[in-house]
This record gives sequence, structure tokens and C-alpha cells, in this order.
Amino acid sequence: MTGQDPAGERLQKVLAGRGWGSRRVCEQLVADGRVAVNGVVAALGQRVDVERDLVTVDGRPVGVRPGLVYYLLNKPAGVVSTARDTHGRPTVVDLVPSSPRVFPVGRLDVDTEGLLLLTNDGELANRLTHPSHGVEKEYLAELDGPLTAGDLRRLRQGIALDDGLTAPAAASQPTPGVLRLTIHEGRNRQVRRMCEAVGRPVRRLVRVRIGPLRDAQLGPGQWRELTVEERIALQSS
Ligand code: URA
Repeated sequence: MTGQDPAGERLQKVLAGRGWGSRRVCEQLVADGRVAVNGVVAALGQRVDVERDLVTVDGRPVGVRPGLVYYLLNKPAGVVSTARDTHGRPTVVDLVPSSPRVFPVGRLDVDTEGLLLLTNDGELANRLTHPSHGVEKEYLAELDGPLTAGDLRRLRQGIALDDGLTAPAAASQPTPGVLRLTIHEGRNRQVRRMCEAVGRPVRRLVRVRIGPLRDAQLGPGQWRELTVEERIALQSS
């Protein structure tokens, strides 16, 4: 991170410019330890890169990057992950506030449930979905029968799909017929195709983690904003 970047702007100037009061008042906010940069209490005179650093006052993000929002949604089955559906089905953007307009980061199949990030931060979205980045995604899959030790080994080592070999993955079977699979690729219907390849089609698929983001309390169709800590963890994941 770039909190001490000599090319950045002085923190109190950034705060003052975003309406937190006079330069003097903003200096006092910093001196009182109420300002943090990327989760670390800031020092007077510290410089920040307004494009990258997350500045908070009393834990609340200040508008260094104004208007950016980050929602974590528990997508129910039957809802599509595109912004608009040609068949008129409900979409994930119908489940979150309509303003500012956000878009899903990556996709879940219409029948897949679980965590999906929606944001209007195009830079973060590009980074997270870029194939070279490969943020981890963890899934729980209910299968039509138990996996053998050999099946699990194949899932871990890589499966030959029609679009190439899958990268090494973490795979375990917490109970017979349930697969916990962590992958960092984002190919179309990847988990379903991997399971089909070992002869155990998926009956139900739920994404339970995206990089540092988990939330077992979020019910189907519910969403919440990311916490400051989650935003920081995601920016650096
Ligand atoms: N893999 C799938 O098969 N489907 C999803 O929705 C996500 C990952």
C-alpha cells in the first residue's frame, strides 16, 4: 500500500477537501487518532494515494473515492447474475439498492446459490475477475452420491475439461456426497463440469467464500455492505 507515498496528498488536505472541516480541524481528527489509512491509525503529515488507499474517520470510509459501494449478496437459486435478463427473470441487481447502479463481480449460474459481490468499483472488479489474479472461491456441492478417494485426488490435481485442464484445487468431503471445493479459476460452470467429469453430478451448489469474504448469517436474498476490514482485505487479496 502507498500510505507513505511521497507523491501522494497530505491526509489533512484530503480530508479538508472532502468536507471534513478546515485544515486545522482535520489535523485535530488525525491527532486524535480518529483517522485510519488502510486500517492503520494515521499520522499527521502522512500522504495518501487517493486512488488506492482507504481512508476512514471513526471507522467510516471517507469519500476519497466518492460514491463507491460494495455489497455482499447471498444469491438465491433462480436469480440470474447478469444486470438484465432477456427472459425477464429476476436478476441480482434487483435484490440490492438501485442507486448507485452496481454490477456483479463474476457470475454464478442461475441455479447456484451463495455469495456474490456487487459493486460500482470497476477497477476492483477487473482485478478480481482477471484470470491472472485468481482470488479463491470456495463452494459446497451436494452430489448425487459419495466421492471416492480417487475422485478427490483427481479434483485436486486437475481435471481435463473441454476447455483445458483445471488448475490444482483444494477438495474435501466433509460428509459423504458433499464436496468442499476451493478453486481460483472462474470458468463457465466449472464446479458442475468438474463433478460431472468424476461421474457425480451436482444437485445443489452454494458458494460460501470469495477470497476473504464469508458470511454464514446472510440469508438467501439478503445483502449487506462490506465492512472496512473486508474492503481492505479484498483490496490486498
Ligand atoms: N461453478 C459452477 O459450476 N457454477 C457456478 O455458478 C460457479 C462455479
